[in-house]
Amino acid sequence: MTILVTGGAGFIGGNFVLDWLAQSEEPVVNLDKLTYAGNLDTLRSLRDDPRHRFVRGDIGDRTLVSQLLDTHRPRAVIHFAAESHVDRSIHGPAAFVDTNIVGTFSLLEAARAHWQTLGEGERAAFRFLHVSTDEVFGTLSADDAPFTEDDACAPNSPYSASKAASDHLVRAWFHTYGLPVLTTHCSNNYGPYHFPEKLIPLVILNALAGKPLPVYGDGLQVRDWLYVTDHCAAIRRVLDAGRPGDTYNIGGWNEKPNIDVVRTLCRMLDTLRPRADGSSYASQIQHVSDRPGHDRRYAIDARKLERELGWKPAETFDTGIRKTVEWYLANPDWVNNVTSGAYRDWADLHYGSQA
Ligand code: NAD
Ligand code: DAU
Repeated sequence: MTILVTGGAGFIGGNFVLDWLAQSEEPVVNLDKLTYAGNLDTLRSLRDDPRHRFVRGDIGDRTLVSQLLDTHRPRAVIHFAAESHVDRSIHGPAAFVDTNIVGTFSLLEAARAHWQTLGEGERAAFRFLHVSTDEVFGTLSADDAPFTEDDACAPNSPYSASKAASDHLVRAWFHTYGLPVLTTHCSNNYGPYHFPEKLIPLVILNALAGKPLPVYGDGLQVRDWLYVTDHCAAIRRVLDAGRPGDTYNIGGWNEKPNIDVVRTLCRMLDTLRPRADGSSYASQIQHVSDRPGHDRRYAIDARKLERELGWKPAETFDTGIRKTVEWYLANPDWVNNVTSGAYRDWADLHYGSQA
């Protein structure tokens, strides 16, 4: 048996492939376009592993995807590939429509055509697992209950709107064609191999480089953080035992205001890699202009996944954030490779003279 992973050179997809092959002999075909966010360095340890077949390509390339499905006959497609950064979606939404909506449509069509050729047993066992986000639910006030699977979509950014659109397509392919789909909505991930355009790796690397630590607006926006390998474990569990057509929320009950996350990172670095002048990294914090349309609070109610499939996160925020900081300190080669590339151009474009 084989699985087809899309976006497996990105942050979560890369962690998923590494975790999968650490616990299973089942081969992975990894289809990734290698956009600025795709990084083969993350998969370096699999370079000579015959269980990992990397294919550079676009999920929207129907001919390529159909060939991969015909050749490898995967029992499941795990769909991570996406444009994933909210700020980039504000600067340039077109790529988000192309990949997240049109690309997912094309992938669904290829999967449906393939699935229809399968024998009865294989058809019943086949799964299309769509990795989505809590951002499709919009924003919460301080005293609202966390998002549940039954909440309506209310996306506020071009990114979350494109993810919500893809969720609707996936849902329709189940109801209309019977394609056995599963959809997961996860909260903010953090951990190793995270591209430093996102808050946590950006703050760690800017701190070490002596650069400002940009906090949007008042920094009191709340995100619900989950260590990435807990997300990977949840996806494996949903793949194994999720009910086709169902959606599952994934989260770690770790709501934190951004400014607290930034201060926690500064405190850890003060201990693990003190600044030469002895002062705290917190002195590098700078409040900058807020993100347009910035969602104030996300929080995920993951009780369905716990109740029905027995999944629980293994990491707390304290253990996960420590592992994360230690990982960035212990992996300068990976970091240098990323920071010497397109990331610099992006930082100039997005932050300009602010940071
Ligand atoms: P990422 O940006 O780190 O990685 C995305 C990967 O997809 C990259 O390797 C990129 O090269 C690839 N890709 C982009 N367009 C492609 C295309 N057209 N064809 C093939 N490959 C393409 O993203 P991530 O943070 O790892 O997120 C993975 C998935 O999880 C996304 O669908 C995202 O919406 C979802 N998600 C992310 C988070 C989070 O906190 N990062 C939380 C919940 C859900
Ligand atoms: O909730 C899940 C989502 O989490 C995923 O679907 C997205 O793919 C992922 O990028 C992430 O979205 P966020 O916008 O929440 O993540 P980001 O790391 O970009 O920002 C986290 C918070 O920190 C957010 O409130 C914005 C703020 N922020 C971010 C950056 C990059 C800052 O204050 N300063 C910054 O420089």
